[in-house]
Amino acid sequence: MTDRDRARSLLRDAARVVVLTGAGVSAESGVPTFRGAGGLWKSFRAEELATPEAFARDPRLVWEWYQWRRELVAECAPNAAHHALARWAASRDGVAIVTQNVDGLHAAAARAVERRDGVDPARAEPIELHGSLAATRCTRCDWREPVGQRVDATSRETLPRCPACGALARPGVVWFGEALDERTIRAAFAAGESAGVCLVVGTSGVVQPAASLAGVTRRSGDAVIEVNPDETPITAIATVSLRGPAGEIVPGLVAP
Ligand code: OAD
Repeated sequence: MTDRDRARSLLRDAARVVVLTGAGVSAESGVPTFRGAGGLWKSFRAEELATPEAFARDPRLVWEWYQWRRELVAECAPNAAHHALARWAASRDGVAIVTQNVDGLHAAAARAVERRDGVDPARAEPIELHGSLAATRCTRCDWREPVGQRVDATSRETLPRCPACGALARPGVVWFGEALDERTIRAAFAAGESAGVCLVVGTSGVVQPAASLAGVTRRSGDAVIEVNPDETPITAIATVSLRGPAGEIVPGLVAP
């Protein structure tokens, strides 16, 4: 039996599957990854752009970078891996898609799934661990807008403000040094604990707590399948490692 066949049968037979994705699943859509050749963290410094301290120091610069990323992602569409995962999750029970990505492409693929007998696009809605690039939220109160207006970052005065309390608004993403939303992390780890298989696609597996999701499934004696062109720290605990791009490998794993 080939590794692909083994992965296919593990996925087919599991009552519950958690899918953990990272930037690599969107690479073939044209969204840059963070690490590795051409990664965002090669040309930009995370501590200057993706921390609460950076935003407190220079909100204009941070908003300019996020507005640039919003525009970049607006030009991108879900690829074969996003679509295959969405169709699969929508057409059977027990699949939870958990993503570290803020590009909204899993959600876009879920919206593209056609509703018919036994297919429920809502089942393909991803759990977005790190929030969403499209969202804007308040730095002070609970106000949040799922799809924010275009941000004019030419000066501090033009930056968006919270309509509820007047404080500065910020991107609706999780930054380094910040806690993840508690309900979101609980839902993700509940899915990881109950899963018979964790399918890990396109993540370097170095950012916590997301990276430990695969370990949670593995510790309960269940299988981990990794799809990535390169080896990662998750490879060591993987039951099956499939080397190659997500768009080529994932559709074959989950197609009926
Ligand atoms: P990384 O950029 O760290 O890792 C991307 C992974 O995708 C690498 O392991 C690549 O080998 C792999 N890859 C590249 N092309 C691929 C392809 N076509 N198919 C499959 N895999 C491919 O991205 P993440 O692991 O998502 O957090 O990074 C985790 C977090 O660190 C991000 O959510 C972000 C970042 O800083 C925050 O901003 C809080």
